[in-house]
Amino acid sequence: MTIRPARLYDAAEIHALMQPYVAQGLLLPRSLRYLCENIRDFTVIEANGRIVASGALHFLDEDVAEIQSLAVAPARRGQGLGRQLTAALVEEAKAHQVWKVFALTHAPQFFYRLGFTDTDLGALPQKFSRDCAACPKRPVCRQHAVIRDIFAAESEAPAPAAALALVP
Ligand SMILES: CC(C)(COP(=O)(O)OP(=O)(O)OC[C@H]1O[C@@H](n2cnc3c(N)ncnc32)[C@H](O)[C@@H]1OP(=O)(O)O)[C@@H](O)C(=O)NCCC(=O)NCCS
Repeated sequence: MTIRPARLYDAAEIHALMQPYVAQGLLLPRSLRYLCENIRDFTVIEANGRIVASGALHFLDEDVAEIQSLAVAPARRGQGLGRQLTAALVEEAKAHQVWKVFALTHAPQFFYRLGFTDTDLGALPQKFSRDCAACPKRPVCRQHAVIRDIFAAESEAPAPAAALALVP
């Protein structure tokens, strides 16, 4: 099993992996074109040459990023892959000195286990104005907003000079 940044040729497989969850209303639809344009946001887990999990870290502003499109292949759910992938996305956020990572999700319990807590969109005006304000599903949206302070323990926060060295 390998965890690695997605490459452009992974876009179609990521698209296919997401489809069952898009159909269930658990993930927002993403076109193949969108995935190609934003492929650098994505990390994948590969097993035997197939992508079994994928997810994205999308920067929203100077210190906030969103975990998006998190999907584990149906046959592989409950085996810790979602946890591994989310941990990798949080590490990526850390390396870029992003202070807060959030997600809009139908699976808040999964995120609570990884140190996220409830928040509301009022605390995320960037997200609300960019995506939610014009979303046709807004009146019936049942997604939970969850957030994690990456450097919650003050000792974990990088000094500004050290932060540069962290960015790959
Ligand atoms: C949600 C999802 C990414 C979790 O991935 P996974 O590989 O099945 O989860 P893991 O095996 O890593 O589980 C980690 C922990 O979360 C718990 N968990 C996983 N999914 C959960 C859920 N839907 N509700 C409650 N708890 C959940 C597990 O029991 C495990 O708990 P533990 O700490 O006691 O071991 C995956 O089930 C999935 O692809 N769901 C459909 C798409 C989706 O809803 N994505 C999230 C949108 S952002």
